[in-house]
Amino acid sequence: MTYFSDIEELRQHAKRKVPKMFYEYVDAGSWTESTYRANCEDFAKLHFRQKVAVDFSHRKLDTKLVGIPSSMPVGLAPTGIAGMQHADGEILAARAAERFGVPFTLSTVSVCSIEDVAEHTHAPFWFQLYMMKDRGFIESLIQRAERAGCPVLVFTLDLQIQGQRHRDRRNGLSTPPKLTLRNLAHLARYPAWCAGMLRTSRRSFGNIVGHAPGVTGIGSMAEWAAKQFDPTLTWKDIEWVRQRWKGKLVLKGILDPEDAKTAAKCGADAIIVSNHGGRQLDGAPSTISVLPRIADAVQDDIELHMDSGVRSGQDVLKALACGARGVYIGRAFLYGLGAAGEAGVTRALEIIRSELDMTMALCGITDVNAIGNDALMEIRPGIHLMSEVRLSDSNVDKERLSSALR
Ligand code: FNR
Repeated sequence: MTYFSDIEELRQHAKRKVPKMFYEYVDAGSWTESTYRANCEDFAKLHFRQKVAVDFSHRKLDTKLVGIPSSMPVGLAPTGIAGMQHADGEILAARAAERFGVPFTLSTVSVCSIEDVAEHTHAPFWFQLYMMKDRGFIESLIQRAERAGCPVLVFTLDLQIQGQRHRDRRNGLSTPPKLTLRNLAHLARYPAWCAGMLRTSRRSFGNIVGHAPGVTGIGSMAEWAAKQFDPTLTWKDIEWVRQRWKGKLVLKGILDPEDAKTAAKCGADAIIVSNHGGRQLDGAPSTISVLPRIADAVQDDIELHMDSGVRSGQDVLKALACGARGVYIGRAFLYGLGAAGEAGVTRALEIIRSELDMTMALCGITDVNAIGNDALMEIRPGIHLMSEVRLSDSNVDKERLSSALR
């Protein structure tokens, strides 16, 4: 296999291997993509505190996420139609995560079904839920996840209406691709991808087609999906899910301190601070920039996780320093999947792990669970990083920063 040094090299390789329609489904944000870009750019604005003469010969990266052991504080985020980045993509990614000892989260709108992934893996994986109008179907999905042994349900709250992604429209995205002459000519340029897709029977929405009433094929699926995302979702529905799901419940898509406080009171085990990787509300702040405020708002009331914009182990360390206990990667593993299947996802995890490990050493940190905001150097105005409480510890101009926070 080609040697990949970092996630960027995996991205470049994936771009060559995956048909544009599906590559750009991943590598894009909504509308102007300003939030998508900010997610990564704001990580780059943070600086580490370099510490020397600390014995870092023994370093501990393992942790627990919602009480479940993980070999590092990183999991694979739920991503729709990962099975279009590479044939059987969800199974391959779940296997890579299993061998690495980190959680894999299967999306509601995956290609491989809950049962497919359960059949091809041993370790329990997590399941992500979108609320649909058909509550009977949601109950059946919850039961299927329970039967498959999923210990965690990740309930996504920020996609009851879909933010428009211009590139998907331009590319005529559909799963599987429509067999028009234009698409066929395009797909012919990706022979390895096509060969994989011809070998597998998994080319549609495995959790939905054949399970949701009336959805028998791809035609009826599109019609069903367009009508089903439920815009009436409120905190009451979270209680409804909580009553039906006995395992751990994680709420995903929180970006506001008030929402975080409400979430902490509704029986969830953790929240994921997330803007859906910049795919939903363009113009929303980057996740890393709001994380410290949310950490202050919830204190120890609920476990805090985050995603969006993480492309390196260094980003993971920065997120932990800003208050997260766990971090998820979306695109970083999808690039690996598109570039080289299971081995590519494994490589993405190796890269993240080794960058995290090395950066901890250079910061004089030996335990991933002991990372605090003193791992970071200075905080810059314009990025909402420090709360009033934490400002008192920093040597930055307090007045100037307070106004930047408002
Ligand atoms: C996503 N995301 C997502 N989230 C979710 O809850 N259910 C889903 O089906 C999907 N689908 C999806 C597809 C693709 C292609 C991407 C890139 C993302 C959002 C995902 O879980 C996570 O929030 C972001 O991917 C995090 O941002 P990064 O790591 O991709 O920058």
